[in-house]
Amino acid sequence: MITYFNGTFVPKDDVRVSPDDRGFLFGDGVYEVARTYGGKLFALDRHLARLRYSLDQLRIRGTDVDRLGDVCRELLRQNDLGSRDAVVYLQVTRGAAPRTHAFPSPAVGPTVYGYAAPITPKFDPGKGVAAITVPDTRWARCDIKSVSLVANCLANQQAAEAGVFEAIFVRDGVALEGSHTSFFAVIGGEVRTVPLTNYVLPGITRGVVLELCRSNGIPAKEAPIFAHQLNQAEELFLAGTTTEVLAAVQLDGRAVAGGRPGPITSRLRELFCTFSSGPAE
Ligand code: PDD
Repeated sequence: MITYFNGTFVPKDDVRVSPDDRGFLFGDGVYEVARTYGGKLFALDRHLARLRYSLDQLRIRGTDVDRLGDVCRELLRQNDLGSRDAVVYLQVTRGAAPRTHAFPSPAVGPTVYGYAAPITPKFDPGKGVAAITVPDTRWARCDIKSVSLVANCLANQQAAEAGVFEAIFVRDGVALEGSHTSFFAVIGGEVRTVPLTNYVLPGITRGVVLELCRSNGIPAKEAPIFAHQLNQAEELFLAGTTTEVLAAVQLDGRAVAGGRPGPITSRLRELFCTFSSGPAE
């Protein structure tokens, strides 16, 4: 695999990350996951805008984010992924410097890493997946796509040990999002997802789903999904770069929508697949 590391394209095995890297020592960095459909990058501009936001919020300077679009395309080219469905991963950390909690002084350049790999979904969208709810133990800046993902890893591991696909974080009685997906409910015929706050990632797929609802006359609103409403929801679904639109047909062991993807979820999945295979980059 050919990867991108600090300005050059190199075989993955030749990448040398310093043990002083602040991504390694502190989780002091940010990332993006984008994907391609038929070789075309989907919503790249939105991913790069979110990367810019994450970098800005953490005050990680010195990355030419505009250039990273070309880096993504070159990764796809060099790995022969020009016509396959793939994921592209980008990560930027504050760089390598002797360990101090405060930012390095003088400042050091960021560490920038990227790879592209074929994607093989680990679920059957026609069947949907099961999920559990878990308490949200994450920090209060989940709007930043930080590589500090240990709480997400623990939650996802709990899901894996329960034999389900995803863990949905619940904070103060509100179901916010999954360990690696945005979360939606259909309540009273209306699609609902929580408003954007510091407690959720502004998911790219989430945004597209809301736009698809609007342009196709599907009622939708951004409003809290209270945990006590979950068993009244007609449908539940997940949305994310690697999951697309995916029905959650079981939550905490209880069947949702009769244990099958519901009509609104199925329609949105269809609309999403049509949209993502379209001409937009
Ligand atoms: N995860 N919420 C969280 C906590 C996420 O980590 C993700 C994405 C999403 C969905 O966002 P988007 O639609 O922009 O992919 C929501 C990526 C795919 C990951 O960590 O692998």
